[in-house]
Amino acid sequence: MAGKIKIGIIGGSGMDDPDILENRQEKHVTTPYGKPSDVLILGKIKGVDCVVLARHGRKHDVMPTDINYRANIYALKEEGCTHVVVTSACGSLKEEYEPGHIVFPDQFIDRTTKRVSTFYDGKQGSPKGICHMPMHEPYCPHTRKILTEAAKELKLPHHESGTMVVIEGPRFSSKAESRMFKMWGGDIIGMTAVPEIVLANEAGLCYASISMVTDYDCWRDDHDPVSVEAVKKTFKVNVANAKELLLNVIPRIASEKWAEITKEREAAVTNNIMLPSS
Ligand code: ADE
Repeated sequence: MAGKIKIGIIGGSGMDDPDILENRQEKHVTTPYGKPSDVLILGKIKGVDCVVLARHGRKHDVMPTDINYRANIYALKEEGCTHVVVTSACGSLKEEYEPGHIVFPDQFIDRTTKRVSTFYDGKQGSPKGICHMPMHEPYCPHTRKILTEAAKELKLPHHESGTMVVIEGPRFSSKAESRMFKMWGGDIIGMTAVPEIVLANEAGLCYASISMVTDYDCWRDDHDPVSVEAVKKTFKVNVANAKELLLNVIPRIASEKWAEITKEREAAVTNNIMLPSS
């Protein structure tokens, strides 16, 4: 994987129209895990090879539980991606993470219940063994640092870190749940980071997220509870910031040296596979 940088961009709601790509080309692919959420859209951003994929499909008809996360990550890896930078909407569990802010999360708390979160599932055609992927630092710190530097330069309101609580959805949380997630130390809340990030780590990819705060979930008595309408309204504003950030950050990522980091990521996978004893 050393050498050429190619960046996969998984677009969340509202970010899945990749009009930022030059020389766009659609590619229909299928994987051993089935079909990704939609076509891969290949192209360049400021001369850097990129692959855009709409997480929920371009018609936004795939709900969080039903996203084929394995096919999405497999397809991006197969296409030669070295990095995956994703965008997603999220709720806020802390007053200072305000709607309109961007967060570069560094940790997650997994509350999903219905998703396959490994490529190493013991099935025929899957890679051999069981992969006990370390998850102490799931988001790529190097990519996050570049994102933070760019956000600072662009003067975008942002947070360098944050713990993302990932719920199964599609429903939003109850007030009791929302308050419990706050007590657990969650900063933001969403529905898609897991297992996407786990699979990206298994695939040896550098994964980082541009998480855009759209609402205060439902823990605050002095605010309306989250609704689709509120999320959509704030997201519209945030999308412009996320696009500006992506345009700035992609050439920066491509100009860094990644060979050592890539080697470490791949070793983290191979060193943590337990093969069946013969
Ligand atoms: N996406 C945007 N806002 C959210 C919230 N409050 N909970 C879960 N996912 C979200």
